[in-house]
Amino acid sequence: MDKFVIRGGTPLNGTIRVSGAKNSALPCMAAAILTEEPVILENIPQVRDIETERKLLASMGAEVELGYGRAQHRTTLCCRNLAKSEASYELVKTMRASTLVLGPLVARTGSARVSMPGGCAIGARPIDMHLKGLELLGAKITVEHGYVEATADRLRGAEIVFDKITVTGTEDLMMAAVLAEGLTVMENCAREPEVVDLANLLTKMGAKITGAGTSTLRIQGVEQLHGAKHRIIPDRIEAGTFIVAGAVAGGNLIVEDCEPAHLGALLRKLREAGVEVSAAGDTVEISSGGQLKAADMSTEEYPGFPTDMQAQYMALATQAEGASVITENIFENRFMHVSELVRMGADIKIEGRRAIVRGKTPLSGAPVLASDLRASASLVIAALVADGETIIDRVYHMDRGYENIEEKLRGVGAQIRRVGDLIPKR
Ligand code: EPZ
Repeated sequence: MDKFVIRGGTPLNGTIRVSGAKNSALPCMAAAILTEEPVILENIPQVRDIETERKLLASMGAEVELGYGRAQHRTTLCCRNLAKSEASYELVKTMRASTLVLGPLVARTGSARVSMPGGCAIGARPIDMHLKGLELLGAKITVEHGYVEATADRLRGAEIVFDKITVTGTEDLMMAAVLAEGLTVMENCAREPEVVDLANLLTKMGAKITGAGTSTLRIQGVEQLHGAKHRIIPDRIEAGTFIVAGAVAGGNLIVEDCEPAHLGALLRKLREAGVEVSAAGDTVEISSGGQLKAADMSTEEYPGFPTDMQAQYMALATQAEGASVITENIFENRFMHVSELVRMGADIKIEGRRAIVRGKTPLSGAPVLASDLRASASLVIAALVADGETIIDRVYHMDRGYENIEEKLRGVGAQIRRVGDLIPKR
């Protein structure tokens, strides 16, 4: 398993470019199921989860070309001949977002058999709201042998109110509703930019959707959708990760090809913590200002502070003077990075959903273990400012959602390299 070896102490200077948003590309690729015609998506990030989704769609009979040539980062998907409507456990267990094919499969083919996603490092993450919404749209749902089976001759528009805000739940049911008969009104929807990006693609395909980005979505079903071409929005979490890395490591970093409008809560919190950060056009500039200062933070659904930036912010809090109280409101177990940061010298105490971080503590390099995508990012940030060498194992977690992160960071001065298994596989 690949590892990262990072030597801390070097500031980050220069320009780093952001890739397309993984969490928009995944639902947008699933949306291709809704039409027989080709769908072309540009600015696709070259990350493992995209390859997993390609395999999943191809396993159903979809033709999926994926190119990452210099001018490309593009995929062309054609689901004209869907041989089967099934997402196997083998694939779903590696990526929960596979459940995003559920709604489009039922809408397009009238049936779907999708493995229930297993547990996940950051929490139970059930899909009960996806299933309840599909039932309200008229699907017959059975769950047995670890699989969800959903069937419907044709889905019918309905009133859906989410008990909790769910990003992929909103996306899954939006894709189900676009081909349903009649009007669907969904309340308490997720407002994330990725939901809006998906709605924009569906609209280009002929769907009739209003309210994307607000809590209420109204979807007038249509008979069929056609192909479209769409450019995926920049990845706001990748951008946020680099912005926090620049704030912690010091130096003068420019993060390019991002969308500052999607980073409001993060930028406000960083300014509160004493970070000198400015935004213009598609760039954010961080200059190593004075001392970082403690600032409490609570994760909330968009437009609040994103849970996917909580671990990265915690790494920054270890370098801020004072006590920062970090509250994780979205997932029940998203503090796995804490024990590893403590091993590097951080002073962090967990009390239920809260972590109290006391800084500024000097960090020292150590061998650490990545546990999930964003926890890994937190460890990279900590390693950039730690004294000595840090070895991060299981970086495949990072490869799921960060495109060539070590090359991008090395390009702005970080001392980071990837090493394969030191002992060749037998
Ligand atoms: C999406 O996951 C993202 N993934 C996650 O990013 C992100 O952390 C999360 O939204 C929250 O912003 C993708 O978009 C592919 P939720 P999702 O449904 O949709 C509970 C990353 O790092 N819930 O919004 O699965 C759930 O347990 C990943 O890129 C139910 O109870 O998250 C959680 O507590 C990690 N029942 C809360 O809602 C349901 O049916 C929010 O989850 C669905 C969700």
